[in-house]
Amino acid sequence: MEVVPLASVEEVARLGADVVEAAVRGGAGVLGLATGSTPLPTYRELIGRHLDGIGPSYDGVRCFTLDEYVGLPAGHPESYRATIARELTDPLGIPADRVHGPDPDPAGLPTAGERYEAALRAAGGVDVQVLGIGSDGHLAFNEPGSSLASLTRLKTLTEETRRDNARFFGSLDEVPRHVLTQGLGTILRSRHLLLLATGPGKAAALAAAVEGPLTASCPASVLQLHPHVTVLCDPSAAAGLERRDHYREVYAAKPAWQGL
Ligand code: GLP
Repeated sequence: MEVVPLASVEEVARLGADVVEAAVRGGAGVLGLATGSTPLPTYRELIGRHLDGIGPSYDGVRCFTLDEYVGLPAGHPESYRATIARELTDPLGIPADRVHGPDPDPAGLPTAGERYEAALRAAGGVDVQVLGIGSDGHLAFNEPGSSLASLTRLKTLTEETRRDNARFFGSLDEVPRHVLTQGLGTILRSRHLLLLATGPGKAAALAAAVEGPLTASCPASVLQLHPHVTVLCDPSAAAGLERRDHYREVYAAKPAWQGL
């Protein structure tokens, strides 16, 4: 795992965008996209470069979201399908038929996980997966206790996550209790994992994920099993990392040819 403590949210966004663009320029055809607030500065950076004409071509790129709420009316602005279209894929000119997410239609819920796994496999798997981390250490919507080998399935949110996400809705009561989410085993199949963490609310979870034991009690600790993980964090999110000086030294001394 490569942890890169950066000076600001803006630097996280610039480097995050560099990683995604380098992958696309290198032929990555499948992007994995997270929702939540954390990736938004990175997405805005990608959109800005695209509009300035200095981004890569997204022709042929396909996108897969990590997760989706269950129980929202179709087209609800806080559904992750609507959110990712608004915040990234529409402005990048990636058509809706190349943006995929777990299908929350109630009639198909029992098979929704399997169908999403099949779609991911058929696309050849995810080249770069953008990730955030929940304040309780969740990845996608894999709450503490999730199997480290889990695949896409229906999950129930914790109260902590529902409270965290209530800011996107009118009230806590409007936050769905159920979700479909890629499993931790699904996420591990992506070829490159790019975890973005910013703000003091992520410091404890990030420290547990990166330096704590591998445990289902901190789902993001599963990243320790993956051969290619890049963690970009701002100073407040990095505050709990015991080895942060070492991570800085490693990054400063990184050979230019190595890339992230
Ligand atoms: C959400 C999403 C995750 C996200 C996390 C953190 O509930 N399902 O994909 O990474 O929680 O969200 P935020 O970036 O808004 O703090």
